[in-house]
Amino acid sequence: MNRTSVPGIHLAGVEKAFATPDGPLLALQRTDLQVRPGEFLALVGPSGCGKTTLLRMIGGLTEPTAGRVLIAERSLWAAGRRDSEAIRELAVVFQDANLFPWFSVEDNIALPLRLRGVPKPERLQKSRSLCELVGIGGFERLWPRQLSGGMRQRAAIARALSYDPHILLMDEPFGALDAITRDQLNLELQRIWLAQGCTIVFVTHSIAEAVFLGDRVLLLSPRPGKIDTEVEVPFPRPRKTSIQAFPEFQQLVQRLRDRLEAIT
Ligand SMILES: Nc1ncnc2c1ncn2[C@@H]1O[C@H](COP(=O)(O)OP(=O)(O)O)[C@@H](O)[C@H]1O
Ligand SMILES: [Mg+2]
Repeated sequence: MNRTSVPGIHLAGVEKAFATPDGPLLALQRTDLQVRPGEFLALVGPSGCGKTTLLRMIGGLTEPTAGRVLIAERSLWAAGRRDSEAIRELAVVFQDANLFPWFSVEDNIALPLRLRGVPKPERLQKSRSLCELVGIGGFERLWPRQLSGGMRQRAAIARALSYDPHILLMDEPFGALDAITRDQLNLELQRIWLAQGCTIVFVTHSIAEAVFLGDRVLLLSPRPGKIDTEVEVPFPRPRKTSIQAFPEFQQLVQRLRDRLEAIT
């Protein structure tokens, strides 16, 4: 996979209103957005502003009430149905690893391949090399409950990467982890992304995490969400944790914090 050959994402006038007993609830206002091929895009915003809704619409898990989501210029939804070609490009990682407790770590990681009919020796080989890639080499035969929270998230990332998706969607994947583990996983994710060359949309409520990871950061306004601010993050890769002490880093984070405060 190569950074320029993976698909980008195009949102054209995408909106979501949920039907509720009190009438429609507008979660996301009409949004236009281009995610460049191979880009690492970070989305931040206050709780309830529609980040998950936006990500789920890109992932084909929630249907927009208006507008179009295009993956590699293919429309994700047509007449209430998802386009299976477009879906094949995508993988999603949530805050909870959602591993199956009755499968070993390697079987969990290989599950998407099993569902795709990949023969056992091949999928176990892939699973093992992914364990190495995400830093849980040697733990393949364990049960999920024997892993720490950080290791379970690593396994969830490995499972998402198992079928070589071109687009990785991540919804606060490190939100439940302690600060040290989170720093470590941010570095690891950057390394994996640099190695894999996929397009990533990463949702977080941490502005510092968004600026550390993103090529670009989008700040969403409170509900009904819309893109309020967009910043390009200029720091070269690979970024080290120490950049967080740089004045340029801190100024960028502060600028976004001030803006968030002003709109909430
Ligand atoms: N299935 C649903 N039905 C009704 N309202 C929903 C549903 N999912 C989300 N919402 C509402 O939409 C808004 C945006 O939610 P969400 O996308 O989860 O925000 P975030 O991820 O930014 O915290 C919230 O007000 C939430 O309560
Ligand atoms: Mg959310």
